[in-house]
Amino acid sequence: MSPAYSEKVLEHFKNPRNVGELENPDGVGVEGNPVCGDLMEIHIQVQDGRIADIKFKTFGCGSAIATSSMVTEMAKGKTLEEAMAITRGDVANELDGLPPQKMHCSNLAADALHKAIKDYWEKHGGGPPEEAGA
Ligand code: FES
Repeated sequence: MSPAYSEKVLEHFKNPRNVGELENPDGVGVEGNPVCGDLMEIHIQVQDGRIADIKFKTFGCGSAIATSSMVTEMAKGKTLEEAMAITRGDVANELDGLPPQKMHCSNLAADALHKAIKDYWEKHGGGPPEEAGA
């Protein structure tokens, strides 16, 4: 079985961006997939409400590595609210699609990012306007 991967997926898999960890992350998100056992950790550094730096470590399949790499590229420089709005569908679209059986891998990347942002909000206060104003 060899699902058809886009060139972008293969490129990000071979040359993943923002791999590693931050020394003093402002927020950390860990997400695991109980089915395949893959695990992803995302660290963010926040400055003026924006993601100034972001790193990831993924113990998982090629699609998980490619989607983590892409999600870090998409989130960098964005406000926390904008990064929170990134969905797994957005990540897959930016990669020119993923094979259907690999869509859950992009879920891991988006969820880990969202958890890192929530972790930041928990530690430093803040959150989306609808929650703050509710
Ligand atoms: Fe587990 Fe892709 S197979 S994240």
